[in-house]
Amino acid sequence: MADPSEQTNEELILGFLADGGEEFTSGEALSNKLGLSRAAVWKHVESLRVKGYRIEAVSARGYRLVEVPDRLTSLELNPLLSTNELGRTVHALDSVPSTNEVAMQLAAGGASHGEVVIAEQQTRGKGRRGRSWVSPARVNLYCSAILRPELPPQRAPEITLTAAVALAETLRDSGVDAWIKWPNDVQVDGKKIAGILTELSADPDQIHHVVLGIGVNLNCKVEDLGPEVAPAATSLMEARGEKVPRALFTAALFGRLEQRLDQHAREGFAPIQKAWRQLSSTLGQEVLVRTDRDELRGVAEDIDELGALVLRLPGGGVERVLAGDVEQVRGKR
Ligand code: BTN
Repeated sequence: MADPSEQTNEELILGFLADGGEEFTSGEALSNKLGLSRAAVWKHVESLRVKGYRIEAVSARGYRLVEVPDRLTSLELNPLLSTNELGRTVHALDSVPSTNEVAMQLAAGGASHGEVVIAEQQTRGKGRRGRSWVSPARVNLYCSAILRPELPPQRAPEITLTAAVALAETLRDSGVDAWIKWPNDVQVDGKKIAGILTELSADPDQIHHVVLGIGVNLNCKVEDLGPEVAPAATSLMEARGEKVPRALFTAALFGRLEQRLDQHAREGFAPIQKAWRQLSSTLGQEVLVRTDRDELRGVAEDIDELGALVLRLPGGGVERVLAGDVEQVRGKR
């Protein structure tokens, strides 16, 4: 658990302002929380501004964090985090083939639960089912979290669905109407905005580590993703019409993710399954599912306790699909 006494006053001020979101936090509240004079709070705010933080000050209302430096290192993230473990250690890299590969190596070398690899660019970003993840430099989020859940490997898909819920919730908190397309694509306006790739090292009865790789299109223009990806993709900037502070989004995502992972560890899959159902654009739709072996058409009725898609076939039978791609034949979103 992070010890708040180790944080500097500047980091604490940033933390309080980040918690306030779009709201103002009064100078008096800050000085009470920190045990500092109003003048001392003002001096710290000035010093943060020099470091690139944009903090609005309005008399009788207080301070509001408007912009943080557009970097994703511990320096920017730590003060913004609400987590105990997730993201408290960040391996911030410039360009790597894939953050999942780096995280798998770190995990094999003994890295702890909650350590995260973040890169500004990936040259061979990996997507699901052998696809690639286009990862232009310095505009999006490419991260891989090392997790050590006490679970048998057959239950690993639950971690991915848990992450999809946290991701959709964070995007909704950021002002867009995000939905999950089974199993774990996150979409806005029917276009893909984020994806998850989970990799695993396990014995037959116990997971050693999971690497949870998350890519979110934050501030890229869709054209930056290339002609193959662009038509079916969007970014948070395109959906909201303005740039997103990447560090704030990342810290918020880690907060949601840790909450949902803790809930999963405490209460099992049932509450996650319930949240997933509510956020899903797939359920109730007529879909075409492509698996490694075949194509199935039917109505997506539910996900079961393993995260498999429960498909009602035209003849009335039911098929459960654990891995595949879904195309909505008559989509509503
Ligand atoms: C998908 O196909 O939807 C999954 C995309 C996952 C992309 C992320 S970006 C960070 C991490 N590193 C990778 O190489 N892939 C994942």
